[in-house]
Amino acid sequence: MKRIFLSGALLVFGSVSAFAVDAKDTYMNKCSVCHGPDGAGKTAKGRKLKVKDVRETSKKVSAAEMIKIVEEGKGVDMDAFGKDLSKADIKAVVDYYRDFAR
Ligand code: HEC
Repeated sequence: MKRIFLSGALLVFGSVSAFAVDAKDTYMNKCSVCHGPDGAGKTAKGRKLKVKDVRETSKKVSAAEMIKIVEEGKGVDMDAFGKDLSKADIKAVVDYYRDFAR
């Protein structure tokens, strides 16, 4: 009995901490090449595609709108990630991205 409880607690704790790491990993793997490791978009690719700084866009674009953009894409250069990432992953990565502006 004690053993079952312990492994249950480990499972919950493990998945909570994995969540925070995942959003950062997802951002660094899939977004930072254009949006920059700090959300400023000042990478070679970001400058070329005229990616805007999240410190500016987050004043005008709500979290819900950003989630939709990440899901469905925008323009020719911002890919749709709806097939690649779950809704929860997209929400987490948008939260992570908007945190740069806070
Ligand atoms: C190939 C480069 C590229 C990658 C990779 C990329 N983006 Fe973008 N993203 C863009 C460009 C360019 C725009 C501006 C599109 C427009 O306004 O037409 C944009 C726009 C956005 C916007 C809308 C607000 C804004 O800044 O104009 C959000 C939010 C966003 N991207 C989040 C993400 C997230 C999260 C990821 C990773 C899952 C990601 N992007 C990956 C290039 C990229």
